[in-house]
Amino acid sequence: MTLHIDPQSIGELNPPNRLMLTPGPSSMDPRVYRALATPLVGHLDPWFKGCMDDTQVLLRQIFQTENRLTMPLSASGSGGIEASVVNSLEEGDEAIICVNGVFSERMAVIASHTAAKVTKVEAPYGKPVDAEDVRRAGKGRKIKIVGFAQGETSSGVLTQIEPFRKVADELGALLVVDTVASLAAVPLHVDRERVDICFSGTQKAISAPPGMSPITVSPRAEEAFRNRKTKVQSWYFDLATAMNYWGKERLYHHTPPVSLIYALREAMRIVVEEGLPARWERHRVNQLALIAGIEAMGLELLVKKPADRLPTVTAVMIPGGIDDAKVRNQLLDEFNIEIAGGLGPLKAKIWRVGLMGHCSQKPYVLLFLAALEKTLLDQGLRVPSGAGVGAAVQSYAQARTEAVGVSR
Ligand SMILES: Cc1ncc(COP(=O)(O)O)c(C=O)c1O
Repeated sequence: MTLHIDPQSIGELNPPNRLMLTPGPSSMDPRVYRALATPLVGHLDPWFKGCMDDTQVLLRQIFQTENRLTMPLSASGSGGIEASVVNSLEEGDEAIICVNGVFSERMAVIASHTAAKVTKVEAPYGKPVDAEDVRRAGKGRKIKIVGFAQGETSSGVLTQIEPFRKVADELGALLVVDTVASLAAVPLHVDRERVDICFSGTQKAISAPPGMSPITVSPRAEEAFRNRKTKVQSWYFDLATAMNYWGKERLYHHTPPVSLIYALREAMRIVVEEGLPARWERHRVNQLALIAGIEAMGLELLVKKPADRLPTVTAVMIPGGIDDAKVRNQLLDEFNIEIAGGLGPLKAKIWRVGLMGHCSQKPYVLLFLAALEKTLLDQGLRVPSGAGVGAAVQSYAQARTEAVGVSR
């Protein structure tokens, strides 16, 4: 290997401008790009401390919480899982993790790296775990945390919080909820629903760059952290010390990604300007139109029960005889649209279409359905001409009629 390269051989960075209809990252608003390009300051600069205050105010608003311990971790969403379990679990503890996909499985895997005993309560991919199964699994045992993903991105499944809060109360457990794929797109009220530890990712429905994991911790969970007998196994993710920086003291802990925090702040300003209820409704209406279009083209969904469908990720069964990669490659090459394939046991069985944050828009839904029709025809699948777009247009008209009805 030579240690010299011709500097001209590597061109200036010029990524393609994709429409990212993936389960994250989603495309970003131009305002967020502009925030990224603003001047860098030091992480202890007095001006930046004000920027941190704004970030925390906005995060509390989006989580719907007054929790003191609320901050963006300098880590992707997996860091949020890690922080949640390593701060709450130690030797002698027991955890119940609800597993219905790759990301809730990841919570169980990360929890198994602690000294706690971990029990998985499972449901098939495409369905939420039954809270009754958690009740049965925890009966007569002292459980420290019950954890699950509100939005399971690998299968596009939504899990309701309330039944799990009830079971966690009966078991005396803290409730840990992964909202990486759902925050700012699906109704969530951390305080009202008494979620003890809730984390997310910046790259999905918030539509900021990947690389940060917002997290919020209830006073009850903070107290449980203080009562630990042993040190948190991770220095970086020990929330008590990380909060020395994000708390009143603003003491150095590690150098945070300042520019990502700028971008997150701007992306959250956009969320709050739109308003959470309006944003939740936008995600719901756009997914209904997408689903109407998909079904009108004769395709099937993985998640059969409408109430179980996660508004940000729609899992579409790949029709027999159709090549997963060929379809995704054509969408990318011909239309500049990225969608995702399946993960784990769903690899090559489903496509995952993301409508998250900035990407959950009517023009994108209609464009995608038209592009999918053309692509499927080219790949040899007969689909009724114009049926996808037509059904989506009908679905939007229906949503508008309902909205008028509501406001009257
Ligand atoms: C529900 C859920 N949890 C956790 C993660 C992990 O996040 P990251 O890939 O940002 O580490 C993801 C990523 O897609 C996710 O969808």
